[in-house]
Amino acid sequence: MSEKITVSIIKADVGGWPGHALVHPELKIIARNELEKAKGKDIIDYYVTNCGDDLELVMTHRKGVDDEEIHALAWNTFLKATEKAKELKLYGAGQDLLSDAFSGNIKGMGPGVAEMEFTERKAEPIVTFFMDKTEPGAFNLPIYKMFADPFNTIGLVIDPSAIQGYRFEVWDIQEHKKVMMDCPEEMYSMLALIGAKSRYVIKRVYPREGGKLPLDEPVAAISTEKLYEIAGEYVGKDDPVALVRAQSGLPALGEVLEPFSFPHLVSGWMRGSHNGPLMPVSQCNAKCTRFDGPPRVVALGFQLANGRLVGPVDLFDDPGFDNSRQMAKDTADYMRRHGPFEPHRLPLADMEYTTLPKVLSKLKGRFEKIE
Ligand code: F6R
Ligand code: MG
Ligand code: MG
Repeated sequence: MSEKITVSIIKADVGGWPGHALVHPELKIIARNELEKAKGKDIIDYYVTNCGDDLELVMTHRKGVDDEEIHALAWNTFLKATEKAKELKLYGAGQDLLSDAFSGNIKGMGPGVAEMEFTERKAEPIVTFFMDKTEPGAFNLPIYKMFADPFNTIGLVIDPSAIQGYRFEVWDIQEHKKVMMDCPEEMYSMLALIGAKSRYVIKRVYPREGGKLPLDEPVAAISTEKLYEIAGEYVGKDDPVALVRAQSGLPALGEVLEPFSFPHLVSGWMRGSHNGPLMPVSQCNAKCTRFDGPPRVVALGFQLANGRLVGPVDLFDDPGFDNSRQMAKDTADYMRRHGPFEPHRLPLADMEYTTLPKVLSKLKGRFEKIE
């Protein structure tokens, strides 16, 4: 048992209501009951929510990352929720648990995980992020802005304990490799990688020498596991989650949220095959209905008190983000008018599925050489 605290977010889509829009409330009740039984034993505290059709479990404990019991607890919770999803005939019941429930395609299955083990500070504000209808690379731009962009995070310029910058762990999910990069020195090289967000994803962020925090304890973590495991073959859109620590030598809460004042374009909308704006919403609006989207993000804030999750505060429930939402709505209209054309529809290589091989084989005998 460690002195340090671990925060684990584990999520899965175990059935949508209706279609891929939402998690049914009964599934959340089941998840709460399961985690309540474990409270005081395996876990210290928990919070259950949803973003769109993804059931999200936030747990605190002292067992470190990748702990078998914690992961088993999450898995069994998802199995219990799946039983109910099957009873209610929810859409794609158990789909992320590699069950045989068919939901159109088998890509992008398996729960997502974002976990960090660290020494809880005197006051420890954390932000949990949940996205639906997009992929882990959707976190590249906001995480970069939080920890490396002085136009977003003024603390990088005027806070003596942040001016040394941060260290980024970037994964190449095609080649199964990772690289550590220091910003600001390597900012341009890092952008060359993470701008290609379907291949290079930020996995973790660490403090650097000169700051207040231990160098081996991450300050941000993003779920990318499944992509890593199955990259090389086709990889689905794994609606991602992330965990970010804030304040006191780290980006302030407002600097952590500021990147979402711009609804940047992400992939994963409608059939995992379209680009669209990422709309920051309060939890009650985390339901993807327009053209199965648009993609959205929820942010819940907590103070940790010896592992107790004091919160949540629904952080995008703020009129300060109304312009971002308006821009997202306008951008959604603009993108939708492209219909089946790129760049609304993803390039062929990034689409979740396509009829193109069938269309081409039908046309095979009709293609003529161009002189
Ligand atoms: C997007 C998403 C939905 C589905 C779409 C088709 O990530 O989950 O847009 O892809 O509703 O679903 P199926 O193929 O299950 O009918
Ligand atoms: Mg779904
Ligand atoms: Mg989803």
